[in-house]
Amino acid sequence: MEEILNEVSQHVVTLEDINLRYNGERGEVTALENVNLNIEKGEFICVLGPSGCGKSTLLNIIAGFLKPTDGDAKMNGTNIDGASWERAVVFQTPTLYPWLNIHDNVSFGPM
Ligand SMILES: Nc1ncnc2c1ncn2[C@@H]1O[C@H](COP(=O)(O)OP(=O)(O)O)[C@@H](O)[C@H]1O
Ligand SMILES: [Mg+2]
Repeated sequence: MEEILNEVSQHVVTLEDINLRYNGERGEVTALENVNLNIEKGEFICVLGPSGCGKSTLLNIIAGFLKPTDGDAKMNGTNIDGASWERAVVFQTPTLYPWLNIHDNVSFGPM
């Protein structure tokens, strides 16, 4: 039975008991509390919620840009530790120089 379950369930991303607290200018802000989430292979997920509910914070943890205050964020069973080629992020606002082409945008940093 366990074997069958393992075959059916292929968690790619796992969030376990995630809390994230920011130390904001006006004190501590709890952005995420007790978040648990499994994303399966091939699954397409939308995160919906009002402004300030923690959507970007959640995505930043999965991307590896933020470390959770408590809990584990894993990809394929390994703790997410920083950004990785395995996890691409398209930002809400463009982060490219619109007057440069793709080659010049990519080579701007290393230049
Ligand atoms: N760098 C930060 N410092 C302090 N508070 C923050 C910071 N970033 C986000 N927050 C707060 O955390 C909560 C969740 O924010 P966020 O993840 O950006 O929500 P959403 O993307 O759903 O609008 C909000 O209350 C927001 O004000
Ligand atoms: Mg946001």
